[in-house]
Amino acid sequence: MNIEKNVEDDGVIFMSIKPEEDSQGAKEPVAENDSVTILAIESSCDETAAAVVKNGREVLSNIISSQIALHTIYGGVVPEIASRKHVEKMNGCIRAALKEAGVTLKDIDAVAVTYGPGLVGALLVGVSEAKAIAFATGKPLIGVHHIEGHISANFIENKDLEPPFVCLVVSGGHSHLVVVKDYGEYEIIGQTRDDAAGEAFDKVARAIGLGYPGGPKIDKAAKEGNPDAFTFPQAQIPDAEYDFSFSGLKSSVLNYINQAKMQGQELDQADVAASFQKAVVEVLVSHAIKACKEYGYDKLAIAGGVASNTGLRELMEKECASNGIRFYRPSPVLCTDNAAMIGAAAYYEYKKGVRFGLDMNAVPNLPLGDRERRFHANH
Ligand code: KG4
Ligand code: ZN
Repeated sequence: MNIEKNVEDDGVIFMSIKPEEDSQGAKEPVAENDSVTILAIESSCDETAAAVVKNGREVLSNIISSQIALHTIYGGVVPEIASRKHVEKMNGCIRAALKEAGVTLKDIDAVAVTYGPGLVGALLVGVSEAKAIAFATGKPLIGVHHIEGHISANFIENKDLEPPFVCLVVSGGHSHLVVVKDYGEYEIIGQTRDDAAGEAFDKVARAIGLGYPGGPKIDKAAKEGNPDAFTFPQAQIPDAEYDFSFSGLKSSVLNYINQAKMQGQELDQADVAASFQKAVVEVLVSHAIKACKEYGYDKLAIAGGVASNTGLRELMEKECASNGIRFYRPSPVLCTDNAAMIGAAAYYEYKKGVRFGLDMNAVPNLPLGDRERRFHANH
């Protein structure tokens, strides 16, 4: 991936992500008049994003406006700031996405948008924008589940990947083991009982003084540390072997930090980061591999912000290879929030006939799996 970056006056980072010539794989042999071009919009957290995606897997443009620097001083995302910045940045992102793709709104077959889960005020900006474009152009409107988008990021660079497969979804708010039975059909076989994996990364990073955003900072620090310096607990849930729990691990790291402070010992950030990361990654990988073997799948994908973690990618690759499982993962920039993944998921919804009305609303706690789908025209 080639990433063109520009830091704007307000600290927001504007990115245009361009696939390398052949990184999207061979183009699908779809006749031009069957082709479906979708404008996709994402604003569920602190990234304002717009993309144009053809036939679900060919990304014509992928624009991300990241507010991360604005939230860093507060140690986490401030919802009100996020919503206001989405309002400021949304039109510019959409214009850039259309321009980069070399299309106008006339060439678009549908408008897709993340309508949940996420921060309600942030989601509403994207939802209102998508509804306005659908109303003004008369094009169909498709509501996309944010996590289904993350899973679908795998389709972009892996033209051969088709359901069924197992997917480990690990983001800031979700840790799920899912069987992707078909496009848009998900069976949850495991989930977290407390913190999401990304949340654990963020909390531990704050505790050891690395700051926000925790995941990438722990990932970087862990490269300099000894993963065997400490043995932190890896929870197994009796009777729910695919579920996760990260709160005990987090408490154990916090206890260690407090003890070290009381004893006047200097904290080795890199060793704590590496040992913590190892504990999280080993649980994630062992659960995912076990699920593939017991459910009989030989394809495993990863998705969500934590899927960009170097340690997770390396161990998963190694374990998949030694267990005869084909491993799929998006490029790191497609693991974190973006609109190309929303366009990929939306294509398969579009093909199923999903059409939302202009009464679409943001659903902050939209469940994965069994969710209502609309099949009526938008006006
Ligand atoms: O998927 P995402 O961008 O947003 C949500 O849908 O939540 O995930 C964000 C989460 C954050 O908790 C962040 O710390 C974590 O993903 N993350 C990482 C890495 N990059 C982002 N965690 C571990 N290692 C990384 N390299
Ligand atoms: Zn996300």
